[in-house]
Amino acid sequence: MPVDNLPELERINQIGYFDIDIDPSLDLFEEINKLKKEKNAVILAHYYQEPDIHDIADYIGDSLGLAQNAERTEADIIVFAGVHFMAETAKILNPGKKVLLPDLKAGCSLSDSCPPPLFKAFKDKHPDHLVISYVNCSAGIKALSDIICTSSNAQLIVESLPADQKIIFAPDKNLGGYINKQTGRNMVLWNGACMVHEIFSLEKITKLKERHPYALMIAHPECEEAVLAVADFIGSTTQLLQYAEQSSAQEFIVATESGILHQMRINCPTKTFIAAPPNNACACNDCPHMKRNTLEKVYLCLKYEVPEIIMDETLRLAAKIPIDRMLQLSAKLMK
Ligand code: 13P
Ligand code: SF4
Repeated sequence: MPVDNLPELERINQIGYFDIDIDPSLDLFEEINKLKKEKNAVILAHYYQEPDIHDIADYIGDSLGLAQNAERTEADIIVFAGVHFMAETAKILNPGKKVLLPDLKAGCSLSDSCPPPLFKAFKDKHPDHLVISYVNCSAGIKALSDIICTSSNAQLIVESLPADQKIIFAPDKNLGGYINKQTGRNMVLWNGACMVHEIFSLEKITKLKERHPYALMIAHPECEEAVLAVADFIGSTTQLLQYAEQSSAQEFIVATESGILHQMRINCPTKTFIAAPPNNACACNDCPHMKRNTLEKVYLCLKYEVPEIIMDETLRLAAKIPIDRMLQLSAKLMK
């Protein structure tokens, strides 16, 4: 079906993704590289994307690295291979660029667990509290926050505030609980969680550790407390990757979304990475939202320049303030 007329492209923007077949003989890697050059576009991909998307990306990173790259890119088009809140953050930081998300329906269960009207009522009950929100939230929540953080800078940002500062942490109760434990704070936590990181089975991880006694268990702080308690190292996706690279261990049990394994295996070809098992038989440590993006959708969105992130300017400016604070604090604290 041709999609070179305007009404058809508007339809794609409305339904959120391309539902058309493409010529199976096309070499999508070659075509995407050609389009990137022609259009001065850049592909920013999160570690949880599928291997083909990693292989075509200009930058692969965690939420913080992606936001920093989106802010400073000089490309005209950013194809954001990640989920909606990430592409939205890129648009907030760099509004002059066209930001494309291969599938606008790539959401996030954690972000969805914190609707702005309910959070506003929660915040109003704690008027003397500062709000620190994890970047995995909508622009509406960002606009209600004082500082944004990611999993790689959350602890440093919390520690940079006076010890007696009252804080609300949203939306991830697991990351918030972990930071409370690390810092001795007593932040009030919003009751949100990530469907992927809550799925790991402590029982199966314990059995796996017995079968692989030399393996180190590395985990993302979005995992539940009981899983974090048996981890040898806890960190953001980039920090997990760096830890695996620098460690002398040869085997790792990895408790986070399975997409990171591709990059771990590329960067550490002699080491073994075992995905931590979920508490059921399906591949639930794949994020269904992240995996909505495919190489085909990356190609089509770059070719036709839809679906695009469009934002209300008032909301964008309000959401930018706490993100800017995070980026400034990160530059100072993470040297
Ligand atoms: P980081 O990439 O910051 O580690 O976050 C993980 C995540 O869940 C992204 O959705
Ligand atoms: Fe959201 Fe969890 Fe998927 Fe990350 S892995 S995008 S937090 S649902």
